[in-house]
Amino acid sequence: MSTTTNRRVTIDDEYRARTRASADLYAEACTVIPAGITHDSRFTLPYPIFVARAAGPRKWDVDGNEYVDYFGGHGALLLGHSHPAVVEAVQRQVSLGTHWGASHTLEVRWAQLVQRLIPSAERVRFTASGTEASHLALRLARAYTGKPKIMRFVGHFHGWHGEVVAGAMSHFDGSVPAGIAPSLLDQSIVLPAEDIPRIVETLQTRDDIAAVIFEPSGASWGQVPLPPGFIARLREVTRKQGVVLIFDEVITGFRWSRGGAQARYGITPDLCVLAKILAGGLPGGAVAGAKAIMDQLDPAAAKAASREKIGHQGTFNANPLCAAAAVATLGIVETTDVCERAEAAAAEIRNGMRRILIEEGVPWGVYGEASVFIIFPNPGRLPIDPATFDPAELGFKGIKGARDANLINRLRVAMLANGVDIMGGPGGIVSASHGPGEVAQTLDAFRIAVRRLKLEGDIRNA
Ligand SMILES: Cc1ncc(COP(=O)(O)O)c(C=O)c1O
Repeated sequence: MSTTTNRRVTIDDEYRARTRASADLYAEACTVIPAGITHDSRFTLPYPIFVARAAGPRKWDVDGNEYVDYFGGHGALLLGHSHPAVVEAVQRQVSLGTHWGASHTLEVRWAQLVQRLIPSAERVRFTASGTEASHLALRLARAYTGKPKIMRFVGHFHGWHGEVVAGAMSHFDGSVPAGIAPSLLDQSIVLPAEDIPRIVETLQTRDDIAAVIFEPSGASWGQVPLPPGFIARLREVTRKQGVVLIFDEVITGFRWSRGGAQARYGITPDLCVLAKILAGGLPGGAVAGAKAIMDQLDPAAAKAASREKIGHQGTFNANPLCAAAAVATLGIVETTDVCERAEAAAAEIRNGMRRILIEEGVPWGVYGEASVFIIFPNPGRLPIDPATFDPAELGFKGIKGARDANLINRLRVAMLANGVDIMGGPGGIVSASHGPGEVAQTLDAFRIAVRRLKLEGDIRNA
C-alpha cells in the first residue's frame, strides 16, 4: 500500500534541504557558543547559514550555495568583499607584522584621510570598534563640559556598552535591562526623536547635559527617519547651550557621502563616532572632532587648558593590519564615485521592490536613504499602499517598536532560499560592487519570496 502525501514544499523545507552542512555546523556551534552565534543580528530560525568565502557582492555558504550579500560585513564593506586593493594591502602588511606596539606611518596616513574626508575631524583618535568609540566620545564630552548627563533617543543604537543599551534595541519603556546598573540609566536622558519641542525644552531648561548623541540617519540606519529639521535644530540649540553634539556615524560615515551624513546634510557636529567602512572591512573605530575637545587626550594640551588628561588605551587601536586595509579603502572612497555607485544600486532595488509590492498586491513599504534599502513588512496589517508609503507617518512606535521578529525571520529565510542574504532590518546595505546582475537577481528573489509568504499565510491584507 503506497502512502503518498500532497504536502506542499514550504520555504522552511527548501531552506533546510539546501543548507544541510550549515545545520550540522550550527548543531556543533550550539555546544560551545551560546545560541550558536557571535552577533545577535545573525540569529536565524531554524538556523543561520555558515559562510565559507565571499567576493565582491556575493558570498558562498558551506553547502556551496551562492548568495547576493546585503549584510556587507554589517555595513563595513562599501567596496564589496575582498576588493583587490584591500587584499593586496593586507597581504603585504601581514608579512611585515600585524602589531608593532609602536607608532607607525599607516596610522598617520589613516588619520589624515579621515581628517580630509570628515568635516568635524580636526583631530582623530582610533579605537578597536564603534562601541569603544561611542564610549570614548561620551567620556570626552562629559570631561569637556564638566556635566554628567547624556541625551539619547529611543531606538538609536550606539553599540553595546552599558551606558547606551537601555532603550536602543529593547526596554523602550525606560525599564532596566538585565545586567545593567540602574545608576547608569540615571546618566541618560532618553527621549523620543519625534518630539522636537520636548528635546529643545529639555536642552534649554536643564544645566546638567554634557552631550547629545544620535544616528543622523535616524534609528538603525534610517529605519525610523528623523523628523524634518531635526539635525539643524539640534545643532542650533546645542551650540547655544554649550552641549557637545555627537553624530554616531558608524553606519553613515563614508557611506551617506564620502564625508558621511555631516557632509551630505552640511551640518558639522562637535564630535563624531566612526567605525565599519572606516577600517576597510577589518576591526576599527574612531572619534573624530573638534581640537579643543580631542586635546583632552593630549597631556601637554590638556595641561595648557587646565584640564585633566583623559586616559585612553586599547591593545589593537590603529594596528598596522587594520590601518593598511583602512588606508587602501579610504583612498578609494576619496578618489572615486563608490558612494554614488552604491547609492544608485540601492535606489534601483528600492524602486524595484516597491514595484513588485504593487504588482503582487502586498501592503508593505520599501524606503531608505543613500545606499541602504529598508522593507516595512507591516506586522500590524495596516492598510498600506506601497506606492505612497511614508515611514515618517508611523514613527518609532509603528516601525521599530512594532517589529515582528518572526515575520522578519520568515522573509529572511525566504530570501536565503532564493539566494539573497538580507539583514534583519529587514533590509540591506548595498556596496559599490552590486551591479545590474545582483539587482535583477535580488528583485526576482523578492518577488518569489513575497509570493511564497502569501501562499504560506504570512502576508494578509488589512
Ligand atoms: C550606529 C551604530 N553605532 C555603533 C555601533 C557599534 O559599532 P561596533 O559594532 O563596531 O562596536 C554600530 C554597530 O552596528 C552602529 O550601527
